[in-house]
Amino acid sequence: MLTYKEKIAKLIEPHIPFDESQTLRLLDYPPNSNMGDFAFPCFTLAKELRKAPQMIAAELTNAIPKVEWLANVETVGAYVNFFIQRSYFAFDVSTQIQDHADYGKSAVGSGQTIAIDYSSPNVAKSFTVGHLRSTVIGNAVANLHEWLGYQVERVNHLGDWGTQFGKVIVAYKKWGNVETVKQNPIDELVDLYVRFHREAEEHPELEDEARLWFRKLEDGDKEAYELWKWFVEVSLKEFDRTYQLLGVAFDHYLGESFYNDKMDAVVAELEQKQLLTTSDGAEVVLLEEYNMPPCLIKKSDGATLYATRDLAAALYRHNVLHADKLFYVVGNEQSLHFKQVFKVLELMGYEWAKECVHIGFGLMKFEGKKFSTRKGQIIRLNEVLEQSIQRVDAIIEEKNPNLPEREQIAKDVGVGAIIFNDLKSHRLHEIDFRWEDILNFDGETGPYVQYTHARCCSLMRKAEWQLADTDVAACDFSHVSDIEWELWKLLGNLQDTVQRAAEQLDPSIVARYVIDICQQFNRFYHETKILTDDAVHRMTKLVIVACTRNVIAKSLALLGIQAPEAI
Ligand code: ARG
Repeated sequence: MLTYKEKIAKLIEPHIPFDESQTLRLLDYPPNSNMGDFAFPCFTLAKELRKAPQMIAAELTNAIPKVEWLANVETVGAYVNFFIQRSYFAFDVSTQIQDHADYGKSAVGSGQTIAIDYSSPNVAKSFTVGHLRSTVIGNAVANLHEWLGYQVERVNHLGDWGTQFGKVIVAYKKWGNVETVKQNPIDELVDLYVRFHREAEEHPELEDEARLWFRKLEDGDKEAYELWKWFVEVSLKEFDRTYQLLGVAFDHYLGESFYNDKMDAVVAELEQKQLLTTSDGAEVVLLEEYNMPPCLIKKSDGATLYATRDLAAALYRHNVLHADKLFYVVGNEQSLHFKQVFKVLELMGYEWAKECVHIGFGLMKFEGKKFSTRKGQIIRLNEVLEQSIQRVDAIIEEKNPNLPEREQIAKDVGVGAIIFNDLKSHRLHEIDFRWEDILNFDGETGPYVQYTHARCCSLMRKAEWQLADTDVAACDFSHVSDIEWELWKLLGNLQDTVQRAAEQLDPSIVARYVIDICQQFNRFYHETKILTDDAVHRMTKLVIVACTRNVIAKSLALLGIQAPEAI
């Protein structure tokens, strides 16, 4: 389905020397509806045609054919302003929403595969706030692309390999016990790891022991392997609780250990392509020419490294998962690592290295302070999520104690609040987590959006009315008010918004969009009597309510947030 922006571009394009995509890029939404619903600035054309932009605008205005969905085309200075026929548009958007369950979807990405790496926490270590951001942003970016027709492979690149496992094994064998690990796996394993470092300061021979155990693990020693496997299992179980709460899933759990047997081939390939240099006994790829430190491939003791495993993983995602694009949702602090890995792939001669994208993000602070997992001030993520749910439940207790399915709704709203807070600012910004902000039902928050959605549902329940049973043609759209018109235009913009958010890898575009819809809907709600006795009036307004509900629910789903029907 063409968007109105695309339709207008098609009307303009035959009269100017630009192609459709250039035309689309120039077409703008004026800040104020008096200036039209779309505006086409003629400055760029003026340069191209060496003619005054005002003159071009006037000629273009005359050349635009009359079509039933355009109310007016006007020249103002160097702009051609387009006014859409409101009644036509409202009817069109509402029938599209009524007829197509997948209203707003597009197929621009069909035939292309994206492998997206997100969450990727470390076994035997805490699930940090960075992992939370990666999980939430990654899930939204994946949803957006899926919605645009891409085949999306969601990969959890668990940190389940590396020398630290030698340390955890040694510490566990010396000081650990089965029961405590079972009860509280991550905390216990983190404690053991911390203890290892403390003790190793006085007994440096522990380090050798740890190296030995990691070696054993790499060589497939049974005892080492069984312990490691157990650490992975218990950690995963705990991560899974977080994923369940967040409502996030993966197509592949391919941790770093998965690449163990694929590493020799990578090293051999680097060697064969003459990219390896020996430096202090270690094998590296020099990147000085590109203003980067060397990429470490193999330590002097033969152990492979994080980057080596990422090279193997990239090859796997391209060759086996058939990914055309590779996304990595990982905090900004790893941007050098990804620049190095992508550069090495390029030096290996892989064209597709330019399709590798690091989707970075900024820090999240908790009530103004840095989240810390250091002992004594651990903020556990599952606890934050549970606490959010409890706080919402307390609000419901106060406002609407008899709400059916209250437990589920408290969960949807409590978790949604945290996700929305994470997604509403551009991912690169540092964000702050403050209870009074994220749970404010009147602010620009998840609960506000969910509440607006529930308000739409409640109106429809009260009216015992459904969009599906309605003859939209019998509605009266001849007097679309200015407030309604701004709302209709937003509702008509779902596809364009998702497309922009996906192109810019920025879910906050969708979060802002759904806030705009809710604010506009609430203006409409406060100025309009919806459930009157006039059947046509009532149905016409209810159609607006139903369409708003539809687009809010879809936007929330794309962000990974539930839309309960009552709060
Ligand atoms: N496990 C890593 C960490 O917690 C993140 C992994 C990101 N993905 C990757 N392919 N390197 O820092």
